[in-house]
Amino acid sequence: MNLTWFERREDWEAHYPGHKLLYEITDETQYIITAFKNDELAGLMKLCDELENPDVMRVISIWINPKYRKQGLGTRMYEFLGQCIPGRTISAEVWDSNNVAQDFHERLGFVHDPSSLNRYIKEPTEKGID
Ligand SMILES: CC(C)(COP(=O)(O)OP(=O)(O)OC[C@H]1O[C@@H](n2cnc3c(N)ncnc32)[C@H](O)[C@@H]1OP(=O)(O)O)[C@@H](O)C(=O)NCCC(=O)NCCS
Repeated sequence: MNLTWFERREDWEAHYPGHKLLYEITDETQYIITAFKNDELAGLMKLCDELENPDVMRVISIWINPKYRKQGLGTRMYEFLGQCIPGRTISAEVWDSNNVAQDFHERLGFVHDPSSLNRYIKEPTEKGID
């Protein structure tokens, strides 16, 4: 599996013009992580800086291709993110109604942020996310 970090969504569009539709829904996104298996998009993570707190990276969404779910890829993408941004807190948007995503994030060590209904947070570890 090939995981790649893009600082700008335009860079991602240039690399993967065939995935313009997914690019278009990342309108407010500053960073994208992709996971490709052969030529197929297996996973996509959309991220942005938390403007009011530079120590925090916000995960707007994580999507795993249904074909590759429950095989550890989502976990691996978070591990990769932790390596890309060591020392920063990760704040994930997880809808209150999305029980699978809640279980998934709790399993990774995230806790519900009591100040926001749809937010889960994970404090940094020394070497990035566990
Ligand atoms: C949520 C999502 C990102 C998980 O990705 P994934 O690659 O399938 O997750 P992993 O294989 O790394 O799973 C790790 C753990 O999360 C939990 N988990 C993942 N999928 C689950 C499911 N369908 N039901 C219950 N628990 C689940 C399990 O505890 C799992 O550990 P286990 O396999 O040892 O039981 C993926 O299901 C997805 O893309 N869903 C649709 C989009 C979405 O809801 N995104 C999140 C909100 S932005």
